[in-house]
Amino acid sequence: MFKVSQLAAAVAMVVTAAAVQAGEVEVLHYWTSGGEAKSVAELKKIMQAKGHVWKDFAVAGGGGDNAATVLKSRVVSGNPPAAAQIKGPAIQEWAAEGVLANLDATAKAEKWDSLLPKVVADVMKYKGNYVAAPVNVHRVNWMWANAAVLKKAGVAGMPKTWDEFFAAADKVKAAGLIPVAHGGQNWQDFTTFESVVLGVGGAKFYNDALIKLDAKALGSDTMKKSLETFRKVKSYTDAAAPGRDWNLATAMVMQEKAAFQFMGDWAKGEFLAAGKAPGKDFLCAAAPGTANAYTFNVDSFAMFKLKDAGAQKAQGDLAASIMGTEFQEVFNLNKGSIPVRLNMSMAKFDDCAKTSSKDFVDTAKTGGLVPSVAHGMAIKPAAEGAIKDAVSQFWNDDKISVADGMKNIAKAAATK
Ligand code: GAL
Repeated sequence: MFKVSQLAAAVAMVVTAAAVQAGEVEVLHYWTSGGEAKSVAELKKIMQAKGHVWKDFAVAGGGGDNAATVLKSRVVSGNPPAAAQIKGPAIQEWAAEGVLANLDATAKAEKWDSLLPKVVADVMKYKGNYVAAPVNVHRVNWMWANAAVLKKAGVAGMPKTWDEFFAAADKVKAAGLIPVAHGGQNWQDFTTFESVVLGVGGAKFYNDALIKLDAKALGSDTMKKSLETFRKVKSYTDAAAPGRDWNLATAMVMQEKAAFQFMGDWAKGEFLAAGKAPGKDFLCAAAPGTANAYTFNVDSFAMFKLKDAGAQKAQGDLAASIMGTEFQEVFNLNKGSIPVRLNMSMAKFDDCAKTSSKDFVDTAKTGGLVPSVAHGMAIKPAAEGAIKDAVSQFWNDDKISVADGMKNIAKAAATK
């Protein structure tokens, strides 16, 4: 028989052991659309199977602007979540604040250095230490289409150049349908804009103008042509576009109301979640003129410094799970992206993903692989926000001349 004191000690030991083994992991993310929610549910399942408690902290709003605002207020008030969906240069900014946890123990044990492309690993590190775990690679410069709508309008295949695109768009219009499904939010405007710049100017110009923010490139004839093309794309969108969420624009394509959408491959996650078949119901192709280039967008989770041992253990398990083969496959099959972990089998993936995977490797060799500005991969958040605003103003107000639009973008690019 246990004495009460012995029993209490035994209970205390069990409780301590449990606290070290399992913890609550509060995860801030913005994956709330149909395809996104299905994807994040897979991570939740894996964490629950490891005995952890998943506390979902979802902040709706595509592109993550709302989530970023909420995250700031939580961290400033000294109450950060265990993990948050943060990416690109924003990871470095958060790390510089001294609030991110060091993930090196997990990264070393799991051999991340040998499992990640160096360009990705560098973004996940701050001063040589891992502070974030990458989830996937999304390609941004995609164009999606409804196969039945193209057929109805007499469009023979996916347009490869901007001229072909506008000819196709005219046919769709003549058939009484909406050529381009668009959601007028500044990250969506910029998603279209950067594909236009890439298609009109090529990868080198994209780099000079949108990443180096070179004044000469921003003032060039190629930039002028890009803005003219961008404005022309807008003339094929519908009047209800302002403010529309991206997944509702995808739904317009699915429902045969619209022909095309310029969007990253999370749109494919939406089509798949609705039971649509790639290559049959919906088509994917690189945005016109961008087949030899690839704008990448890597989602990742950064972990915040927490005191509780159970929570720290859960963070380590979360980081390891994210880079594990099981998660990398099932998550990306749902999300529309491709695994970020190298040497994964693509056998279960569809042709859009296979093209993405091949093009990711090929464009890395030719210089065509460039970070997406629209999705926070390339420049510091302050300049990114200013340029997005200038581009959206131009998109929304046809009275702003191309010359003034160029000036406004160049001015925004100088934001420190
Ligand atoms: C992107 C993000 C994706 C996607 C999209 C829409 O910035 O990287 O994972 O879900 O926003 O919310």
